Amino acid sequence: MMTPTLLRTPSFAQDAAAHVIEIGRAAIAERGLFRLGLAGGNTPKAVYDQLAATPDALPWNRVQITFGDERCVPPDHADSNYRMAHQSLLGRIPIPEGNVFRIRGEIDAEQASLECASQLAAVASRFNEPIYAHDLLLLGLGEDGHTASLFPGSPALEESARTVIPARGPKPPPQRVSFTFPLLNAARSVAFLVNDPSKESVIQEVLRGEHPAGRIRPTAGSITWIIGEK
Ligand code: 6PG
Repeated sequence: MMTPTLLRTPSFAQDAAAHVIEIGRAAIAERGLFRLGLAGGNTPKAVYDQLAATPDALPWNRVQITFGDERCVPPDHADSNYRMAHQSLLGRIPIPEGNVFRIRGEIDAEQASLECASQLAAVASRFNEPIYAHDLLLLGLGEDGHTASLFPGSPALEESARTVIPARGPKPPPQRVSFTFPLLNAARSVAFLVNDPSKESVIQEVLRGEHPAGRIRPTAGSITWIIGEK
């Protein structure tokens, strides 16, 4: 695995959006499609707002959106990662509905996991890939070192075959659906988005390979940390 790149910046949203656009343009030039995995939580909101502010920066009809995890709530629920992404980005850009692989938080977690995994597998087979390969996967970082909905001590950390599974965690709401390490580590590039000085120590621990986030090691991909300096 390549050495992670750290970008510390006072222009967090602008630099993170620029990173997405740069990788997106290259992916579209190379393969005709940009497969982008969105992070949940609060941190990415400013980045998505920034991307929505320059809607012409990417040909959104050539962008495929996935979600690294979703809370098991309806898509209009305040805790929904889809709702956050729709309000800050997806509802403000010309992206075809079929390009957005929403995890259906409103149904049974196992059914939602199977449905999402099947969507990803169909695309992977189109690209002759053994597993879906994101061009860029955005990830957040929890203060306990979780990422997506892969929390310390969770059985979900041991999943080595499935790509999307039900997962539970201490951060409410507890029932979620999450991408697994096999899927996360199949990404061509990963970008951790952190914009909270209180997370500096956990960043260092993750960089030493600790916590669930420390197990994000793309097999043939890169890791960039975009760290806001307020
Ligand atoms: C979620 C996220 C989770 C998040 C971290 C950081 O659904 O909660 O996927 O992994 O990225 O908890 O969250 P904040 O950005 O809100 O600090």
